[in-house]
Amino acid sequence: MTAGGAEGHEVVAELCPRGPMLLRGVSAVRDEHGELHEATRPVVAVCMCHRSQRLPWCDGTHKAVRRD
Ligand code: FES
Repeated sequence: MTAGGAEGHEVVAELCPRGPMLLRGVSAVRDEHGELHEATRPVVAVCMCHRSQRLPWCDGTHKAVRRD
């Protein structure tokens, strides 16, 4: 997965424990299939558990995933 920021803008990534990766300042995220997903918000949450119904975006499903 790659993320692109607007030229000249800082991109900040924050990993949430057992949750998504928050990206600030990106214009788009390219998924593992090469598809580009436009980021329409100043902060977007990228799913890290791969169980979201809205990949690549987090939909909160990670909260219901059992953790051992
Ligand atoms: S990290 Fe939230 S649904 Fe996957």
